[in-house]
Amino acid sequence: MPTLAIIGGSGFTKLEALEIVRREVVHTPYGEPSAPLTHGMFGGKKVVFLPRHGTAHTIPPHKVNYRANIWALKHIGVKRIVGVAAVGGIGPEMAPGVIAIPNQIIDYTYGRDHTYFENDLSHVTHIDFTEPYSESLRQRLLAAAESSNVTIVSHGVYGATQGPRLETAMEINRLEREGCSLVGMTGMPETALARELDLDYACCAVVANWAAGRGDGPITMMEIEKHIGIGMSRVVCLIAALV
Ligand code: HPA
Repeated sequence: MPTLAIIGGSGFTKLEALEIVRREVVHTPYGEPSAPLTHGMFGGKKVVFLPRHGTAHTIPPHKVNYRANIWALKHIGVKRIVGVAAVGGIGPEMAPGVIAIPNQIIDYTYGRDHTYFENDLSHVTHIDFTEPYSESLRQRLLAAAESSNVTIVSHGVYGATQGPRLETAMEINRLEREGCSLVGMTGMPETALARELDLDYACCAVVANWAAGRGDGPITMMEIEKHIGIGMSRVVCLIAALV
């Protein structure tokens, strides 16, 4: 069984260099995951891939069944997850095209099914989330970046917004005041659910655009797609070095 899973985000609905071995449909107590799990070989190692927004990129961030996705990966024996995500850049180092490995997150999402500890509880559980990402997996990603000569920013605070609309300029100012250097729509509850199931989780954030009000004029899908394309090919090098 593969122990490493990659959850692909926008612009990353398939892992090109993955030699596909089989696809596995997993039904979960929380409903259906975004897609069948794709088992394959990557750089000679077993990995499993799951496109967060579905195979045809049809599931928006607030409709992703995060609980089913993480549960399905745990169920098949995965121990570590790298969540790849397109984000907007707020901090000056987070220019479009940059890859960042965030070390903190602030949750601004609402109305999402965000916990497994809800019904049929034998006791109330509060997970520790002081450090939301697995430091050991983050360090492995940083080492992979070093060995593959992929330039990355080794930290960042991910502000997880509800979407699917992008933010206002003033919302971005507020996020910055509160410490966020990146903004995306899928970081939560994915990160916390992985912790609830005791999985090592790290995020590989690909900056697709300057966040609202930080670039010249409105954010266009063309700009987002261009930078995601550049960033994702570097993410593939990073993952190749990681496995
Ligand atoms: N905001 C939120 N999510 C995003 C952005 C953004 O600017 N770019 C890519 N995902």
